[in-house]
Amino acid sequence: MSANPRPADAQAIAQAAQRLAAGELVAFPTETVYGLGADAANARAVAEVYRLKGRPADHPLIVHVLDAAQAAWWAHWPARAQRLADTFWPGPLTLILLRRETAPAFACGGQASIGLRAPSHPVARALLVAFAAHGGHGVAAPSANRFGRVSPTRAAHVIDDLGDEAPMVLDGGPCDVGVESTIVDLSRERAVLLRPGGITAAQLEAALGEPLLARDAQAPRASGTLEAHYAPATPIELADGDEIDRRIAVLHARGERVALWARSGAGAQADARLSMPADPADAAHALYDALRALDRSGCARILVERVPDDTAWHAVADRLRRAAAGSSGAAGAQRANEA
Ligand code: TXA
Ligand code: MG
Repeated sequence: MSANPRPADAQAIAQAAQRLAAGELVAFPTETVYGLGADAANARAVAEVYRLKGRPADHPLIVHVLDAAQAAWWAHWPARAQRLADTFWPGPLTLILLRRETAPAFACGGQASIGLRAPSHPVARALLVAFAAHGGHGVAAPSANRFGRVSPTRAAHVIDDLGDEAPMVLDGGPCDVGVESTIVDLSRERAVLLRPGGITAAQLEAALGEPLLARDAQAPRASGTLEAHYAPATPIELADGDEIDRRIAVLHARGERVALWARSGAGAQADARLSMPADPADAAHALYDALRALDRSGCARILVERVPDDTAWHAVADRLRRAAAGSSGAAGAQRANEA
């Protein structure tokens, strides 16, 4: 068998497109995270993505398309979708739109709405172009990790996570953005922000010319919106910069080794330490890589410095909160006792 991951040269991309057309899976880079791709119009291929990820069947996937023209094959395309696509596509923005009756329901977990995104990564785009030449309309791709685990931002992460079951992985280097796309629901009367990402609410509102509602109980299901998601195996907890040293002392007194991701100079006593970039986009870029590295450090606990309460940090704050919520209940209860 050929080496995996494969450098994403023209030959590998052509082969990957052929595999997609044949109903096989291919993992590929996008500007946000690596995706686990399948022909979105092939029921068996889409079912295989769910099986491999271990993802519940009612959690819909995002369909990756080249542009608005391909998106309109899948969904009704209102003027405000066009406005957002004009401004942010190709790029890290997923639009939830009403599915066309002619588009297969299995592509979106049977929902009336479908998630669509035109990625900007040159390898993803080249793959979509090559797949379109085989008659493909779009590539369904969730993040290429097992359900509930940290999203892969490098080709090697995909192999680490999926092991022997990994399909062909196109290696396009580390992902630029580093956190999953911003998701905006345009399937209802008012536009709703379902998942914060690299594109901020303010940027979206400026392009839309209308305010964006926060997610509410009526929002369609999105696994990225479950509380316990994006969790490393090691329990993770958040602490303010001025709490870190005290918290490490408490954990050390209990005999626990501590891994730390922090911006401030605090936590010199940590057993493993990575510094968090001061810029929010840089921090997003580094986030999953840092969590994976700290997860492997052999420490009993990952401590992460809380990020500023500022919209520019929204995406990172959201992923960290969920990662902490995904930590073991016992650790959570212990934290509560010590608070
Ligand atoms: O950046 C990204 O979006 C990455 C790359 C690979 O493009 N993909 C990604 O996919 O994060 P995934 O499956 O891990 O997350 C997709 C999110 C899920 O939370 C899913 O439930 C939501 O999009 N979603 C998809 N279709 C939806 C729909 N019709 N209604 C509501 N949520 C939807
Ligand atoms: Mg995911």
